Amino acid sequence: MKAARIHHFGTPEVIVIEDVPRPTPVAGQVLVRVASAGVGPWDALIRQGKSAVNSPLPLTLGSDLSGTIEALGPGVTQFRPGDEVYGVTNPEFIGAHAEFALASSKMVALKPESLSFTEAASVPVVAVTAWQMLFEYGKVQSGQIVLILGAGGNVGGYAVQFASQSGLHVFATSSSDDAQYVRSLGATTVIDYEHDRFEEVIPMVDVVLDMVGGDTRERSLKMIRPGGILVSVVSKPMPNPNDLTNIRTVFFLAEVTTDRLDLITNLFKQRKLIPRVGTVLPLEQVRTAHHMLGGAPHKRGKIVLSIADVVSPPGNG
Ligand SMILES: NC(=O)c1ccc[n+]([C@@H]2O[C@H](COP(=O)([O-])OP(=O)(O)OC[C@H]3O[C@@H](n4cnc5c(N)ncnc54)[C@H](OP(=O)(O)O)[C@@H]3O)[C@@H](O)[C@H]2O)c1
Repeated sequence: MKAARIHHFGTPEVIVIEDVPRPTPVAGQVLVRVASAGVGPWDALIRQGKSAVNSPLPLTLGSDLSGTIEALGPGVTQFRPGDEVYGVTNPEFIGAHAEFALASSKMVALKPESLSFTEAASVPVVAVTAWQMLFEYGKVQSGQIVLILGAGGNVGGYAVQFASQSGLHVFATSSSDDAQYVRSLGATTVIDYEHDRFEEVIPMVDVVLDMVGGDTRERSLKMIRPGGILVSVVSKPMPNPNDLTNIRTVFFLAEVTTDRLDLITNLFKQRKLIPRVGTVLPLEQVRTAHHMLGGAPHKRGKIVLSIADVVSPPGNG
């Protein structure tokens, strides 16, 4: 089978499409015939050897996937061959950019019927990350004020949808290109980060969700009320201790699980969530996808690799 692999860390040019043996699932794993696979900033970090999660080389890139169950490892009873699933491969965020991928059976779920395979592959890491930021780490409650940094991005888009539907006042930063989109997802106020400083526009907030890091994140600390929290998925915040009076900061790595995916699936069933697929490329153009992660022009939204045409049976999405 074909797989997008790296033998060295480096630029997108280190990625090679190779023929490798089709893997066999062991206990607790499923083998997925991959239809589509998402490409995200963490794939670039792994390619560069800068990920918070280290895996030995060589490795196959990719974590987000959608497809059909091809085979079950011993002890896996919750899926059947042919089931249409979406999710991620493993806690190391690797192995999905291939024609077949092994996945932990606890990290995939039945695909929402309303989503195509391409749409489904765009969802798992970013939607679950946004869910965990808001509800598990931010512990938000209706009526609170949240500032979402990087709301025009893939995690940010889900964070805005979850927050606005939970009765929060949502202040969001994005580029002007994404402002209308972010507003359409339910943000109360969108601040154009290229032209305006959010601290001159927003009130004090209860929670900051950080998808940007750096100076933007540092500035946001001054806008958090005592007792509030900054939740980052970019890196561990190292703020000035003077900024931390009665404020908590947290960084975490997303944990995509069947249970969390089922929650997200339910929201898609109720038509409460909108996915945003950007550029779609074949597996052979995975280097181009990585150049896009690095800033090359692309359609806004999640970059997805289309790996195989999988036709759903009638009535199945
Ligand atoms: N810890 C974890 O488990 C985890 C999980 C998921 C994601 N992440 C991390 O979270 C970050 C976001 O991921 P993503 O998939 O949402 O990436 P993404 O789709 O590229 O989104 C990033 C967004 O931030 C915007 N942005 C850049 N600079 C900004 C600024 N100063 N102010 C406001 N917005 C700004 C970008 O806008 P423009 O395109 O207009 O510049 C883009 O819309 C990445 O660093 C990723 O690695 C971590």
